[in-house]
Amino acid sequence: MDELHDQAAGLLRGGHSVFVLTGAGISAESGIPTFRGKDGLWKNYSAEQLATPEAFQRDPAMVWEWYHWRQSLIAKAEPNPGHRALVTLERYYKRFLLLTQNVDNLHCRAGSRNVLELHGSIFRAFCLECGQKVEHGIDRRVIDALPRCECGGLLRPDVVWFGELIPADIWRASLTFLADADLALICGTSGVVWPAAMIPNIACERGLKTIEINLEKTAISGIVDVSIAGRTGEVLPELLRLMGL
Ligand code: OAD
Repeated sequence: MDELHDQAAGLLRGGHSVFVLTGAGISAESGIPTFRGKDGLWKNYSAEQLATPEAFQRDPAMVWEWYHWRQSLIAKAEPNPGHRALVTLERYYKRFLLLTQNVDNLHCRAGSRNVLELHGSIFRAFCLECGQKVEHGIDRRVIDALPRCECGGLLRPDVVWFGELIPADIWRASLTFLADADLALICGTSGVVWPAAMIPNIACERGLKTIEINLEKTAISGIVDVSIAGRTGEVLPELLRLMGL
């Protein structure tokens, strides 16, 4: 185990242009449930009934209720040592990009700067009529009525649902960055949701050094240079310590 930590710290020390991909696992230690796994959200809730455009069309009140519940959980959560370690890493490199699948805004709240949110933000909504995007914080929560835009149109969460396209500009920027990166760090993602799931493969094919940190073995554990089993909130600070940061 220590050997893996040393190897990973060595790779991180040698990196210049670093791409980080994060998933729900990095926020688990902030008390935000992941989607898959033993206590994952998709164990108790059906993705088809809550996270698809069809579900919203069928029952917008139920979908909003679920998002408001998650919003309230997330609003109470604080960034954890894993988020903060990535802030320190960002300062260490000349070139750094953090692509997150999380919609919780915790990377930005921790202080990360160059962050792209591939699946949107739970604190934003957009209007199905006029397309306008609005901040939709917990204080703007409408409990009895559905959230509406100034134009009267129905608002929906500005998150990417199953069957929807991810924002093309964010994906393009990620691939552009990856083309000149020399190291990819993949933290707390099951790596099964596309297109984010392609990132580790692209990185390996392009010859980047690759590190994974995850509680469990995943589909990419076998292809990365170093796969560390552990919590990001513990492993990342330990790697920083080994790097002398
Ligand atoms: P998942 O819930 O699929 O995977 C979370 C991963 O984090 C699992 O592999 C866990 O083993 C790992 N994990 C849990 N706690 C951890 C910890 N403390 N430290 C390190 N690893 C830990 O979440 P994502 O991969 O992010 O999409 O899922 C991708 C997408 O699927 C989400 O963005 C969401 C979901 O459906 C949308 O809502 C569009």
